Amino acid sequence: MSRFIANNFSEYLDLYQESVERPEEFWSQFASSEFLWKRPWDSVLEHDLSEPSVSWFKGAQLNITENCIDRHLEHNGEKTAIIFEPNDQNDEPLHITYAELAIQVNKTANMLKSLGANKGDRICLYMPMVPELAFAVLACARIGAIHSVVFAGFSSKSLSDRINDASCKFVLTADGGYRGAKITPLKNIADDAIKQCPCVEKVLVLKRTNSEIQWTSGRDFWWHETIEQQSEHCPAETMDAEDHLFILYTSGSTGQPKGMVHTCGGYMVYTNFSFRNVFQYKANDVYWCTADIGWITGHSYIVYGPLSAGATTLMFEGVPSYPDMGRFWQVVERHKVNILYTAPTAIRALAQCDLSFVTNADISSLRILGTVGEPINKEAWEWYDDHVGTNNCPIVDTWWQTETGGIMISPLAGITPTIPTFATHPLPGIQPCLMDENGTEVSSIEGEGRLCIKFPWPSIARTIYGNHKRFKDTYFSAFPGHYFTGDGAKRDAKGNYRITGRVDDVVIVSGHNLGTAEIENIIDEHEAVTEAAVVGYPHPIKGNSIYAFVTINAGQVDMDRTTLESEIKKLVSDTLGPISKPEKIQFCSGLPKTRSGKIMRRILRKVAAGELDSFGDISTLLNPECVEEIVQNRL
Ligand code: WTA
Repeated sequence: MSRFIANNFSEYLDLYQESVERPEEFWSQFASSEFLWKRPWDSVLEHDLSEPSVSWFKGAQLNITENCIDRHLEHNGEKTAIIFEPNDQNDEPLHITYAELAIQVNKTANMLKSLGANKGDRICLYMPMVPELAFAVLACARIGAIHSVVFAGFSSKSLSDRINDASCKFVLTADGGYRGAKITPLKNIADDAIKQCPCVEKVLVLKRTNSEIQWTSGRDFWWHETIEQQSEHCPAETMDAEDHLFILYTSGSTGQPKGMVHTCGGYMVYTNFSFRNVFQYKANDVYWCTADIGWITGHSYIVYGPLSAGATTLMFEGVPSYPDMGRFWQVVERHKVNILYTAPTAIRALAQCDLSFVTNADISSLRILGTVGEPINKEAWEWYDDHVGTNNCPIVDTWWQTETGGIMISPLAGITPTIPTFATHPLPGIQPCLMDENGTEVSSIEGEGRLCIKFPWPSIARTIYGNHKRFKDTYFSAFPGHYFTGDGAKRDAKGNYRITGRVDDVVIVSGHNLGTAEIENIIDEHEAVTEAAVVGYPHPIKGNSIYAFVTINAGQVDMDRTTLESEIKKLVSDTLGPISKPEKIQFCSGLPKTRSGKIMRRILRKVAAGELDSFGDISTLLNPECVEEIVQNRL
């Protein structure tokens, strides 16, 4: 047992205090006692948050896959590393041991090398949730290539933007991906994307759905053919702690998505630390995180955190609604899942269904429940507690971000007293604070403000790929010397944090972060549109939904509104993916603007949410008259 994994609340408090008083000693002791390093570090932490520049374990060398795989082989080679639950419940699940994982990752790594992949190359993974995706992630890490996983629900435009942004040389995809009753034509979408990507040299195609696909010879290679002859041994590349491990894109307030960069050493240390502390993983537990590896939750808590801890992690290819809304509970029963980590949007959707879906399955194996991705409302929390946990399983409401790499504020399961809707306390090593409107730290324990972090932790993102200035502007400029999260939060008299939601122009729909500016730009591309303003509004299941206010060109005001509405929805859906499609589109003759010409989204947010009695002072608007019309025609 490691002394760095708390067993009770007083141990947590002690660890927390130690981590704040002597952060370098704390992380240095944890890191040196829990991992395989090829060379120790020269300095534990160097940082300057005004640059910002942060490095952890500088000078150290390692390979994260030796920590996730090789070191478990001697004693736990026959332990199941990955349980694969296929989309179709009539197909056999797979149990992949650590020994088999080693073979598959090494063969995949050698396959990448045989195509010419080298340390430092960027490799885009656009794949379904099948074991080969996990093998490929780890294979990249094995050879020191930088993976950029793009969620397989994204459109070809989103994919090509991401491939080009990181100049990926290779794309790994599949002929198709199963999602419930549907097949996503991944290879066709990738083909479309790659037309815009001169950087791509080779494409590896996994056969999954036997779908008909186009083939570009010389560029495209079948996975099963290329991997066949590869050796089961591939030496792990020596990586510096601060070498890039991966890039993962997240939506921002403005413009293009941001490629968040995570590095090898600190990310490994913190995902392992947080996984073990938060979920209190025990050697024989079966752990299931329902996220997709295309998101940070999948990177940190399906792949790296659990595998570095030698855990059994379940990968589910399908969706919660297929073949019916009982699927999650069937999977829990089938694999005797002990720890379930999912999202509020899934909980709300499942809570809408007949309770018999839950009660028909034997889910008594569950011991710990988790949630992530957006604030969880009280009703959903209580339903999860009553009907899934039968008031017997602690719920960990874990707050964190793509940028933070790992869980930042969360109860430790069974240790921290929980309160519905509260993420409660920061993990050891995490120093949150609340800032008021004037940029001053809220000094009282009880308070409210913008959530910032005032000291670096090992898995903080190091930069935005290719754009350090944007990294600084977005996260380190609003409150100098602090990392600004983009979230608002409240703190109660006992120091428990409750995250209240985004305070910037990011809207979280069904757990997916969407940048409103990006959607506006696409709507603006429609020839009939003069201008669009996009805001989020509360939705009972998705958390939020998208509401677009649109003005039409003088020449096209007679155009049929229903046609226009469906054209705009299709345009957004085709360009950015269906998740970004506005639920409501209201056509207006003008958008409320300040005298400097900025759209007053604050007012539009209130209209969309139906809060019609509290606009504040609108007399300073350039065009106050349009507000009345907008309110009257509200959808
Ligand atoms: C939101 C997901 C409330 C928050 C790991 C954050 C949450 C954004 C919670 C990051 C939670 C995540 N309670 N809000 N437990 N977890 N969020 O980058 O607004 O996809 O800034 O990372 O999700 O989303 P991302």
